[in-house]
Amino acid sequence: MTDKYAVIGNPIAHSKSPLIHHAFAEQFGHDIEYTAELIPIEALEAGLDTLQKKGFKGLNVTVPFKEQVWQSLSKKSIHATTASAVNTITFNSDGSRYGDNTDGIGLCQDLTQNHHIDLAGKRILLLGAGGAARGVILPLLSYKPAELIIANRTISKAHHLVNLFDNEVLSASELEQVPGPFDIIINATSASLNGEIPPIPDSSVSAHTNCYDMMYGTADTAFIQWAKTRTAAKTINGFGMLVEQAAESYRIWRGVKPQTQNIIKHLRY
Ligand code: ATR
Repeated sequence: MTDKYAVIGNPIAHSKSPLIHHAFAEQFGHDIEYTAELIPIEALEAGLDTLQKKGFKGLNVTVPFKEQVWQSLSKKSIHATTASAVNTITFNSDGSRYGDNTDGIGLCQDLTQNHHIDLAGKRILLLGAGGAARGVILPLLSYKPAELIIANRTISKAHHLVNLFDNEVLSASELEQVPGPFDIIINATSASLNGEIPPIPDSSVSAHTNCYDMMYGTADTAFIQWAKTRTAAKTINGFGMLVEQAAESYRIWRGVKPQTQNIIKHLRY
């Protein structure tokens, strides 16, 4: 019997997740059907109930439902708990639901496995203190960086995350005053959506700095353009992270981890 999965969001038509998951299934000869399901903004719970009743085995969750799903689920992984967001739901055969978050693992996999960027002992600057930033902090810390500095336009939110995660390598900074240069700069703000760049000093980037924008699109984001003109060692958009978070979801659901390299190469923007 075909196992059914879906990504839920609003909007959702643009999602590449069905393509990615079908490519994963092909690697293993798995019989799955993965669809994109538009859920009305005010009807998340009804949407989850309907999909579970229809026999779906699991869901990916995207904007704007990640935090709401996190609130609604009682059983969650440590990654989902610390991220305050769920991007992967498993519908168990006993009717229960389990929430996980694979975004941070996806980011770290893309950095370390696909781009061979070591995180251990490195000075990392994380731009942003919203949901996207929060979700990657625990996985980044697990690689034992020397420093992880969270810089945000609203500094109080950066301090809040530093207090919450309570780790000696973590600190908060104003965007304009980040103490560069850094080995790695990760843009987890939504500034790129408006073609804007967090106002960090040019001295943040040296010739060995790797710059990563968690956003991606057909053209370079404003942050990637900014990093390129400052001759960063490497500039990377978040497409690899998208494929890697999907691979980790697939592993959670089906117990095997798909290969990602070819998919990233063929589908990359
Ligand atoms: P997401 O779930 O994508 O993280 P969010 O929780 O709304 O969305 O967080 C957006 C993040 O992008 C925040 O860190 C926000 O800064 P503020 O906390 O000060 O609002 C940041 N951000 C958005 N636009 C920005 C811009 N033009 N310059 C700098 N930071 C920006």
